[in-house]
Amino acid sequence: MTATHETATAAASGANATERFKSDKLAGVAGTPKERVSLLAREVLEAVYGTIRRHKVTYDEYNALKAWLISVGEGGEWPLFLDVWVEHVIEEVATEHRQGNKGTIEGPYYVPDAPEQGARGSVPMRENEPGTPLTWTGQVTSTDGSALAGAKVELWHADADGFYSQFAPGLPEWNLRATFTTDADGKFEIRTVRPAPYQIPTDGACGKLIAAAGWHAWRPAHLHVKVSAPGHELLTAQLYFPGDEHNDDDIASAVKPELMLSPQPASDGSGGTVEYGFILDPEQA
Ligand code: DHB
Ligand code: FE
Repeated sequence: MTATHETATAAASGANATERFKSDKLAGVAGTPKERVSLLAREVLEAVYGTIRRHKVTYDEYNALKAWLISVGEGGEWPLFLDVWVEHVIEEVATEHRQGNKGTIEGPYYVPDAPEQGARGSVPMRENEPGTPLTWTGQVTSTDGSALAGAKVELWHADADGFYSQFAPGLPEWNLRATFTTDADGKFEIRTVRPAPYQIPTDGACGKLIAAAGWHAWRPAHLHVKVSAPGHELLTAQLYFPGDEHNDDDIASAVKPELMLSPQPASDGSGGTVEYGFILDPEQA
């Protein structure tokens, strides 16, 4: 790990993810009707009472939970906690009607309006960006098979040390983040580097839970995408690499077989190539 990453703490990532959430996501949240709040809050509390009774939870355990919940908030780790342990079921329910591409969780590290690179190009990266080069080609289509010209493919991913720009300090703004626009045939070509597996920060409250429970903190290496086109539902997905030791026990439960890439070594030995396209569902009437 390089010196620039020494301060990639839970506190720094958590605070940045919390600020991002507040500025990008809260404006669009509609008021939830009282009846719905009451129903959901009551059911969640009933589930908690059930656990307490079944397992005879003690005052010591109750106080440990209280202290832990306080520390999640103080460390700004609610986005990290919720996106790792809850979002995958929200995503499953939100997309179960779809005929097109499978998606998966967004996670805490998306930033809108990444630099535009046209239909073909490289993502912004440092000179000598570490990692194996990867050239990815694909096409965006609708569920009826028609090509979607002018579709947006937003890509963001961790670097070869497992860190995200704009959240871990020391990385240039927009490093390994870009927006591509499909050509007249719905096609795109992206040059980037393969990301490393990602470990959720272990020095904060989420890390404490993982250590106390004897779990691990790893997500397999993944590329994040948001794919959008007029008149179609936004697809949020991640793509994975075969052979990663955490494909079968992702801490965020976000791996699906449909999202596995089949990279091929490049014929000139300069990295890898991969083909993967997206099928978008038309917006529901
Ligand atoms: C988290 C980080 C990710 O990169 C991701 O894809 C999902 C969750 C997290 O730290 O919560
Ligand atoms: Fe991620």
